[in-house]
Formats: sequence, C-alpha cells, structure tokens
Amino acid sequence: MNILIVYAHPNKKSFNAALKEAVIEQLKELDYDVRVRDLYEIQFDPVLKEDNYTEFYQTNAPEDILYEQKEISWADVLIYIFPTWWTGMPAIMKGYFDKVFTNGFAFRFTEKGAVGLLDGKRALIFQTTGLSEEDLKPKQLIAAMETSFDLGILHYCGVNILTHKFYYSLPYLDQDSKKRVIQEVKDQLIMI
Ligand SMILES: Cc1cc2nc3c(=O)[nH]c(=O)nc-3n(C[C@H](O)[C@H](O)[C@H](O)COP(=O)(O)O)c2cc1C
Repeated sequence: MNILIVYAHPNKKSFNAALKEAVIEQLKELDYDVRVRDLYEIQFDPVLKEDNYTEFYQTNAPEDILYEQKEISWADVLIYIFPTWWTGMPAIMKGYFDKVFTNGFAFRFTEKGAVGLLDGKRALIFQTTGLSEEDLKPKQLIAAMETSFDLGILHYCGVNILTHKFYYSLPYLDQDSKKRVIQEVKDQLIMI
C-alpha cells in the first residue's frame, strides 16, 4: 500500500516533527511504501497568483504542481499532520490545497455539480492544538475545522476520511502525555 504524508510545521524540534517521524517509522515497520511532502522543507510556495489562478480553470498546471499531483495519484492513503493555526491549517498547507487540488485533477464540475476525482483514496488527519478541548468544543471550533477540512476539501474531492484526530493542549502536556499521544497515533496506523 502506498502512503503519502503531507506535513506542515517549520520547526524540526516541534511535537509535530516528532509525530511525523513516529508515523514514518511505524508505516515502514508495517511494510508500507511511504513518501513525505514536508511543505516547509521543500519550500512549497503557497501563494496562488493571478497566473496560476487562470491555470486553476484551465487545468494546465505548472511542473511543480503536476509533481505534487502525481504523488497524490500514487498514494492509496493520504496522511495530513499539522498544528492548528488560527482555527485552521497553517497557510502553507492551505496554499498546497489551493494550488494542487485543481479543477480537473481533484474534482470536476458537471451539470449536476462538482464531482470528486480522488475517490478510492482514504485519509487520516492528525491535528494538534494549543487550546484545550473544553475551550474549543463549546465554541464549535472543532466542528468548524472538521467541516471545512473534511467536508469542504477532502470529501468534496471524493476522499474517504478514516479519522480526523485532534490532540489538545499540546504546549501544556508533559513528556509522558506526549509519548502517549504518539503511541495512540501509531496504534491507529495498524488499522489502515
Ligand atoms: C500562528 C499560530 C496560531 C495558533 N492558533 C491556534 C488556534 O487558533 N487554536 C489553538 O488551539 N492553538 C493555536 N496555536 C497553538 C498551536 O496549535 C500549538 O502550539 C501546536 O499545535 C503545538 O504543536 P507543536 O509543538 O508541534 O507546534 C497557534 C500557534 C501559532 C504559532
């Protein structure tokens, strides 16, 4: 099985970095083929400009975007790992979706509306937060993020979401709790 990890965090010493490394290690142990798109490391340019705004409709994407699309086509399973920044994903990842999930690749407009073109693919999302569950849930901020990421992007494009897990209060967790989170994530990978 081919698994593509899309990862967004600028700090190699962050919890997200440790989580990403643990996920790679676990997937390799399970004998999966793993590829990683570390958006900061590859210096992904997230800004959709006027020229590629036109490409969006023409589905005539530039080489670097075609490369990202080929990586997605290769994958059976997509794994997204990122921290919550202003109640959503980091801008570099949002720009990745803006530019890579193009009309004609990720979805297509028909007379009946948009049709997802990534059907058959499955996704797992691991997202950390600074705020606690008690802070976020009553304000519907988790529901908002699930709706926009899961339904607004992946499900819209036909991807089947296996799990979208939030790990809360990350900056306040001690080392043991962080290890438990990493183990919980690893355990979920056994069930892909
Ligand atoms: C620019 C920025 C915006 C943030 N916005 C939020 C937010 O809206 N909600 C939240 O719960 N945490 C927010 N945080 C906290 C991060 O989500 C948290 O520190 C991170 O998930 C911890 O993982 P890390 O140690 O790998 O960075 C923000 C952090 C940054 C740097």
